[in-house]
Amino acid sequence: MAVFMAILAFILIMLFTCTALLKWNELRYRKKGLPPGTMGWPVFGETTEFLKQGPNFMKNQRARYGSVFKSHILGCPTIVSMDPELNRFILMNESKGLVPGYPQSMLDILGKCNIAAVHGSSHKYMRGALLALISPTMIRDQLLPKIDAFMRTHLINWDNNIVNIQDKTKEMALLSSLKQIASVESSSMSQKFMPEFFKLVLGTLSLPIDLPGTNYRQGLDARKNIVSMLRQLIEQRRASQETHQDMLGYLMRSDENRYKLSDEEIIDQIITILYSGYETVSTTSMMAVKYLHDHPRVLQELRKEHLAIRERKRAGDPIEWNDLKSMRFTRAVIFETSRLATIVNGVLRKTTKEMELNGFVIPEGWRIYVYTREINYDPYIYPDPLAFNPWRWVDKSLESQNYLFIFGGGTRQCPGKELGIAEISTFLHYFVTRYRWNEIGGDKLMRFPRVEAPNGLHIRVSSH
Ligand code: HEM
Repeated sequence: MAVFMAILAFILIMLFTCTALLKWNELRYRKKGLPPGTMGWPVFGETTEFLKQGPNFMKNQRARYGSVFKSHILGCPTIVSMDPELNRFILMNESKGLVPGYPQSMLDILGKCNIAAVHGSSHKYMRGALLALISPTMIRDQLLPKIDAFMRTHLINWDNNIVNIQDKTKEMALLSSLKQIASVESSSMSQKFMPEFFKLVLGTLSLPIDLPGTNYRQGLDARKNIVSMLRQLIEQRRASQETHQDMLGYLMRSDENRYKLSDEEIIDQIITILYSGYETVSTTSMMAVKYLHDHPRVLQELRKEHLAIRERKRAGDPIEWNDLKSMRFTRAVIFETSRLATIVNGVLRKTTKEMELNGFVIPEGWRIYVYTREINYDPYIYPDPLAFNPWRWVDKSLESQNYLFIFGGGTRQCPGKELGIAEISTFLHYFVTRYRWNEIGGDKLMRFPRVEAPNGLHIRVSSH
């Protein structure tokens, strides 16, 4: 009996403590004008529910509180906006005090000149410098030939092999960028670079706990090593006085380039390009392979487009600008893959001052999660939204609708969109013209918070 009473007392104390903690956290963030919502536990907030339930957590909260609600996720008090009109407004109005709100670990590791860390005129300048590097003319004359040369060798000897397409597309995204940036590919530098880069990526997604062995510390160390490799390369190039036709060469030629960047800015710009195009391009490519496997009619149409290009050329001729422009169905496959897989769930912003949004008062320093995932499944914009149907993109009118946030929007809309599409299209060209494939089966695919195959996505490849 005494034991029973003790257990009962313990349960009651625990219940009381939990209720008190939840209430205390609610009161802490109760401020006139804030949107409705719950703040969860002190410190942890609702992060566990958010990560565990994923999109359903968002949908449940929206059902209870409407499309704009407050929460406490990933270490910060956060306003979640699932309202397409408000999302557009936030993306268009950085100058009103809605700057990027990415986690501290990301900013520390990507550098203080990184595009997500700068605002106002500094952002304009860094963005201008980036756009000059990846303009359509640059893609046509400088980058596409490098992408083509890279893909045709990367996609060699896959037949009669079991390939982990997740690893291959990750390697592809990084090495193809390295080739465009510094004409390095299978050299010893890229072999040293790759493991450091993977640690850097992990570090940006970790909690900023600077202790030995943490992903954050390893990310910071990886940044130091990458910076030192890039600095060495810059010094070697300066000493040799050779000109190089690649992004680094262009960034270093202050006579030709109207954007003059310091070495520190050049290095952060390069890390930005590598980082921003890495997971987006690799995951979209992997998911395109997945959807094409599951939809033979789409694969047939895509292959028809690429075989027609090959027929116009001699064997071994590279993919050129006109070929790329003629890949209409391929472009549609890439958009449909990005939409249905939702590679990007949303973007983060932060208020630099107290402000009113949709009638709510948002305090200074709060994070805003511009959550754009659900708009990808809106049946009014995309009839039969769960179907993988690239044909819906073919006439291109969907590409210009107001609520397309696959590549973000406003002043920070993805500057690498066309470059990313060029890379994925060239990859698909060599993949579908050279190979057939089947999934081994049984590989798990996670959709949230990132699209990934935790144990890889394995396919058995044979030549076409
Ligand atoms: C399928 C491929 C890609 C997707 C889905 C994608 C998606 C996005 C999205 C959603 C944003 C907006 C972020 C925000 O508002 O905070 C963005 C920004 C950005 N993207 Fe991409 N991206 C892709 C490829 C690339 C590539 C290849 C590059 C390489 C240059 C790149 C460079 C950037 C940069 C530098 C920004 C920040 C722009 C700024 O802050 O002004 N992206 N991207």
